[in-house]
Order: sequence, then structure tokens, then C-alpha cells
Amino acid sequence: MLAATRTIATARYALAEKFSQVGIDSADVDARLLMAHVLGIDRAELMANGERALNLDEMKAIDALGERRLKREPVARIFGRKEFWNLSLQVSPAVLVPRPETETVIEAALDAVMRDGLQMEKLRILDIGCGAGLLCEPFTRLGAQVIGVDPSATNIAAAKLHADKGHLSIDYRCTTVEQMDVRERFDIVLAMEVVEHVSDIGMFLNRCAAMLKPGGLMLVSTLNRNWKSFALAIVGAEYVLRWLPRGTHQWDKFVTPNELELAFERAGLQVTGERGVIYNPFADRWQLSSDMDVNYMLVAERAKEKSK
Ligand SMILES: C[S@@+](CC[C@H](N)C(=O)[O-])C[C@H]1O[C@@H](n2cnc3c(N)ncnc32)[C@H](O)[C@@H]1O
Repeated sequence: MLAATRTIATARYALAEKFSQVGIDSADVDARLLMAHVLGIDRAELMANGERALNLDEMKAIDALGERRLKREPVARIFGRKEFWNLSLQVSPAVLVPRPETETVIEAALDAVMRDGLQMEKLRILDIGCGAGLLCEPFTRLGAQVIGVDPSATNIAAAKLHADKGHLSIDYRCTTVEQMDVRERFDIVLAMEVVEHVSDIGMFLNRCAAMLKPGGLMLVSTLNRNWKSFALAIVGAEYVLRWLPRGTHQWDKFVTPNELELAFERAGLQVTGERGVIYNPFADRWQLSSDMDVNYMLVAERAKEKSK
């Protein structure tokens, strides 16, 4: 298929053209993902090294994966699930470091994409309280259209700067959910570590739910409210270890999984999954767990419209 191709750029165009000819909507994105995968580089490097000549082995490997995609095998399956989101989370000095929830969030989104036969390139994702873009960037690299919202001008400036460095196009907005136009529609709404900072969770979730398309997913990570979360998240993290500035959290704003589930139900969303996130001091890293005593996340879904 690519016998006459010499450089990264010409091979990419040829591959995208082939995909497009058989009606693959995400032709360009898929060509980039497959080539970046074979060459072991990220998509920004792929674009920057367009003039580099490919060797025969690289051309054969690109050809082999291209043939599979032409037979309509999803890119996620060609790479293998884990490898697919690893690719999206590739860590380099230009990429933000992912946390364990990042993978769970990507996994949940991929589940929805595969289950409903959707294409990542067609998804509209809203990341509320996006900070510096930790989740906006991997979803954008996967091809989704991402809107990142945060009231902090400093965060939005940092997020924009980082996205520019990685040549990523992300719609960052310096605002709050409360100020957004709820007539906008999204397939996935994310609120990671945000609800413990809002004053009216019910109103916040109602607005988020209103912006979800039928069948859409909302993912929230937050802090439980009990003596353990007081000891670890406030005394431990803010006063002893000083991971966070004092006063970052107010314990009475923490929310139990039951309260959050009830608030989701009142907003018309059904909780479909829950996970705890714990710190392992021996490995010095955060990991997913069934223990939801302190940090945890819930996944909720808006019911699909009944077909008439
Ligand atoms: C603890 S940070 C979490 C940042 C990021 N989501 C993460 O997980 O790393 C909470 C963020 O939520 C933002 N935030 C607080 N209230 C908000 C609201 N009502 N709408 C949108 N963002 C909000 C804050 O400005 C802050 O950047």
C-alpha cells in the first residue's frame, strides 16, 4: 500500500487518503495515531518531523496496521485498550503528568464510545474546573472536541500556554458552570475535584445534567466527609505534609457518596460506577481502590431517549 512513500508526511497523507476513500470519518486523526504508534513518537513530533524518510520496516508496519483499519477495526482495538490510552497519556516534558483517575476517566469514556459505537472524534467533552488541562489534553489528543472551563484566569492562562506548546486546539473558557449557557450539549461532562469547592452542589449538578445529551456520562471525583477524610485530607495534606496550602478545603463542604448519588438522582442522572482513590505511601503513588473513605469518584449517566 505504501511502497512509493518516502517521508512521514507523505505516508501520513497517503494513509489518511485511503481511510477517507473507504468512508472513515476520522481518517486524518487515525492516520496520525497509527503512524505515531508505529514510530514511537507523539503526534506533535510526528507533525514536526514530516520530512524524515521512513525505512522499509516502518513502512511495512504502517502498512500492516493501515490494512487492519481499512477493514474497519477500531483504532483502540488495533492498539489494545491499555496501549491506546497510554498513547493518549504519553508523558514527556511537554505533557502534564496523569493521575490514576485520569486513566479511569479515559477508560469510562472509551467504554461508552465502544458500547454505543460512537467515534471519539465526534464527542464533545466539557471539563469543569479544568485547572491546567490535565484531562483536556489527553482527550484532545484522542480526537475529541474539548471545552475546558475554570473561573481562575491563572489556570486558564497556564492551560492555554501548555496546549499551545503541544499544538493542541482546546476551547478554554474563563467562567463557571453557573455562568454557562445550559443550552450547550455535551456527550461527557467531567468535574474532577470541583464539587467540594462549590456552594450549592444540587444547583451545580442540575446545570451539568441539563448540558448532557441523552445517554451522556458525567464523572465526578471528590472527597468523602468523615473523621478519616478530616484527618488525612485536611490535617495530613494541609498541615503535616503541606501538599496543599492551609485552608484549601473546608471539611463541611465534603460530600459523602450517598449524598452525591442522591444529588445525581435529583438532577436526573443514574449512578453507574464508583471507585476509591488512595495514596500508597510505600510506593509513593496514588492508585484506584474499593476504599472510598477519603478520595472517590462516581460515574453517572443520563437516560437515553426512548425510541417511539
Ligand atoms: C482542585 S481544582 C481541580 C482541577 C482539576 N480538575 C484537577 O483535577 O486537577 C478545582 C478547580 O475547580 C475550579 N472551580 C471551582 N468552582 C467552579 C465552578 N463553579 N465552575 C467551574 N470551575 C470551578 C477552580 O477554579 C479550580 O481550578
